[in-house]
Amino acid sequence: MDTLAILKRGPVMPVMVIQSVDEALQVTRALLDGGINTFEITLRTPAALDGIRELVKAFPDALIGVGTVRNADQLDAALQAGARFAVSPGLPAALLPALAANKVPFLPGVATTTEAMNAFDAGFAAQKLFPAEAVGGVPLLKSLHSPLPDIVFCPTGGIHAANAATYLALPNVACVGGSWLAPADLVQAGDWQGITKLAAGALAQAQQA
Ligand code: 3PG
Repeated sequence: MDTLAILKRGPVMPVMVIQSVDEALQVTRALLDGGINTFEITLRTPAALDGIRELVKAFPDALIGVGTVRNADQLDAALQAGARFAVSPGLPAALLPALAANKVPFLPGVATTTEAMNAFDAGFAAQKLFPAEAVGGVPLLKSLHSPLPDIVFCPTGGIHAANAATYLALPNVACVGGSWLAPADLVQAGDWQGITKLAAGALAQAQQA
């Protein structure tokens, strides 16, 4: 499966910052119940790698990826844990040899026109616009479409229920990502039904877009 196929698998991708394996299992179950099947588990907490390992075992039909990959060691560790794709907020040169060696589907982060062109030339036609809202959001993506029609984006950073559909209506957006699908307050409260509802609502909105 290439990166574009992964983005097309689900129009919304939760960006998850997990505090424990148990929490990751509960949140993922709740999101799956709401119809979401592609997940980015960020390497921002000590529980992340164990979380990826257990999620892959517990939910073989879910596509579990790793996010916030900043270097080759992190990429290797996440792949060993079973991550099926990788996402980074950028495209550091130091990651390129590891990406070439591993052939893992990879979604690099870009924030400018030149970064998008460089990432495309490095072989990445599917890219994460990050941080989407801060760097220009919908108007930026509209402007990029004409000169760079062969680049497809997954904007993340500042996406939420109220603006996701506007992004998804753009011809160069395949998917949107973000933490709004598993917000910290619902996770802390153990409101798994609330998370399922958010997921189902986001998918319904995306289908309309
Ligand atoms: C990411 O890694 O994509 C962002 O942290 C997600 O941004 P958000 O928290 O604004 O959704």
